[in-house]
Amino acid sequence: MNTHNIFKSVLFSTLLLIGNSCSERKEIDVIPMPRSVEYHSGNFTISPETKFYTNLSVESRQALTDYLEGTSLGSVPFAESTTGNNGIELNLCDSSIVTGNEAYRIEIDKKGVRLSANTETGIFYGLQTLLQLLNNGDNKTLPALTINDSPRFPYRGLHLDVSRHFFDKEFVKKQLNAMAYFKMNRLHWHLTDGAGWRIEIKKYPRLTSFAAWRPFDKLNDWWVGGRTFCEQDDPRAVGGYYTQDDIREVVAYAAERHITIIPEIEMPGHSEEVLATYPELSCSGKPYVNADFCIGTEKTFEFLENVLLEVIDLFPSEYIHIGGDEASKSSWNTCPRCQKRMADEHLNSVDELQSYMIHRIEKFLNDHGRKIIGWDEIIEGGLSPTATVMSWRGEEGGIKAVKAGNQAIMTPGKYCYLDAFQDAPNTQPMAIGGYLTLEKVYSFEPVPDSLSTKEAELILGVQGNVWTEHIPTPEHYEYMIYPRILALAEIGWSPSEVKKWDNFHTRALQAVNILREQGYNPFPLEKEVGDKPESYQKVNHLAIGKKVTYANPYSNHYAAQGEKTLVDGVRGGWMYNDDRWQGFIDCDFDVTIDLGKETDIKQVCAEFIQLKGPYVWLPKQVIISSSIDGEHYDTLATIDNDISPDIETLQFKEFGWAGNAKARYIRYKALPEGGYSPMKSESNNRYPIYRTEKDKIWENEEG
Ligand code: ACM
Repeated sequence: MNTHNIFKSVLFSTLLLIGNSCSERKEIDVIPMPRSVEYHSGNFTISPETKFYTNLSVESRQALTDYLEGTSLGSVPFAESTTGNNGIELNLCDSSIVTGNEAYRIEIDKKGVRLSANTETGIFYGLQTLLQLLNNGDNKTLPALTINDSPRFPYRGLHLDVSRHFFDKEFVKKQLNAMAYFKMNRLHWHLTDGAGWRIEIKKYPRLTSFAAWRPFDKLNDWWVGGRTFCEQDDPRAVGGYYTQDDIREVVAYAAERHITIIPEIEMPGHSEEVLATYPELSCSGKPYVNADFCIGTEKTFEFLENVLLEVIDLFPSEYIHIGGDEASKSSWNTCPRCQKRMADEHLNSVDELQSYMIHRIEKFLNDHGRKIIGWDEIIEGGLSPTATVMSWRGEEGGIKAVKAGNQAIMTPGKYCYLDAFQDAPNTQPMAIGGYLTLEKVYSFEPVPDSLSTKEAELILGVQGNVWTEHIPTPEHYEYMIYPRILALAEIGWSPSEVKKWDNFHTRALQAVNILREQGYNPFPLEKEVGDKPESYQKVNHLAIGKKVTYANPYSNHYAAQGEKTLVDGVRGGWMYNDDRWQGFIDCDFDVTIDLGKETDIKQVCAEFIQLKGPYVWLPKQVIISSSIDGEHYDTLATIDNDISPDIETLQFKEFGWAGNAKARYIRYKALPEGGYSPMKSESNNRYPIYRTEKDKIWENEEG
């Protein structure tokens, strides 16, 4: 027996030694992780004698010299010759050697580096990999290896909302630098929305002398204060816009980083700022009434086409994003001009009216050599065969689009909305709601299982969306996107086989350090708190699996696990939309639980959540009652809420009763706080009003 044990322990330590010698070689610290890496022994060290050798044009060499200035490769000069010793060779090669527009190969041995690509974009991405290897090491040593790399998806995007809060061009350029470093290639610039117009349009100067300025410092004050705009020279004016020169400068800066900027001009909804300025484009004809353009008037098309002509001139992008999301369409039902348009065009619904408009605008853009992207609502009422769909309300829009033969970009809220909290909310700055950790973002798979190989090819890629209702400063914006956008950068670039969460987490920690060193303000990933501790522990109680009767239905948007939600013993996490909290909109929460037989009850309790930002409220009052026969109820407790709805931070509260009772039925009724919805407007579906409930917990005697 003893001998056997000794043998085992000797064998074990031998294995450990083998393990140690293998792990001497550290896996590279690059984000996104390249497709294939072969490790060799040795290193190449950059010295004062090291030069770039290249067959790139003089112009491209100059552009790279400018780009690399100040980076770890900034001190390496370009030699006149194409090859030489002790060098970093940038070799623009034939597509038979390296295939793909963004692909590159890096070969490093102790004599030097050879970076080959068929395009300058490939060379640029190879340089990003070299920069990351240097920055994550000692700035001069490169490990001997061979990398063959190319992206999984052609579209790897970041969305920036500059309407709710304006961010200047220097800020945009700074984010373009980080995007390039992580091989992201599309900036979706959300330039117009109900909270402010941000792009100079020469034909309509009032868009930027008026619709770009709010007479309030804070967005929420503006919202509850009437949502009006003011003149640019009004002493109260807060806002801003990009001149056409600014736009040209940013577009060129992005192009130098191999990033295409896709402008978004919102229509037909989210257009309050335009209609405040040009009310004749709305159904009512009055400012501050409608959010949707009137589709019945030709003036709307004249306006939009004139705007788009200037947009086309500024942005070389193949795609123009035309919005299409969250139009309420309600005014179209009663507007005589819209009704006439529907009759003339044989349109059966307001969805078809929206579709008519989108198709017309699409044709206009196609005639000018451009294609459209729209939010997934553009499917409703009939999708044109050539539009690309941006799937945000889940993945269904993207699935429908590719099944119809259209292209899609995946950006479902659950994984890609970087305006959600990324850690325990009470440790975080204000956010729109939601709880989206880095790990959850990283778990996203953009190609749903239900797609065939051919359909999957129509998924262009992924995008992180950042809406700025609660993001007033550049520092806050950076905090929200870094490091979560890095997870999307890797999902967009790396093949799923090389994705490993633990390994990514380690690389993301390092990337956060580098971002900090470079003057960004990332979320401190090393201090992440994680999920609500109670939400990990299942609670055992007398009502588990028992029948629940609802006097009023729960909201389909917040159904959680349906009828079993309140009796599954699972507690909610940090956020109301984690599929564990059940929500009720504009009605009492009123349920009765049938325990099946008369039972000794010692405690009745439920937990509720409140978050003011997205209008999630605690109940005003809870009434708990019990019954033996299901007809006659005795009130066990009436509990008033003592937490103000004005508190900005996330609140949890248990409303419960403890004592001794015998009952078969328990009725738990929670009265709405009576909260109002100051942000409700025609197209503000991003601000749902609801109340939400959590698990009803009937503690058993063991408690
Ligand atoms: C969206 O979030 N309304 C596209």
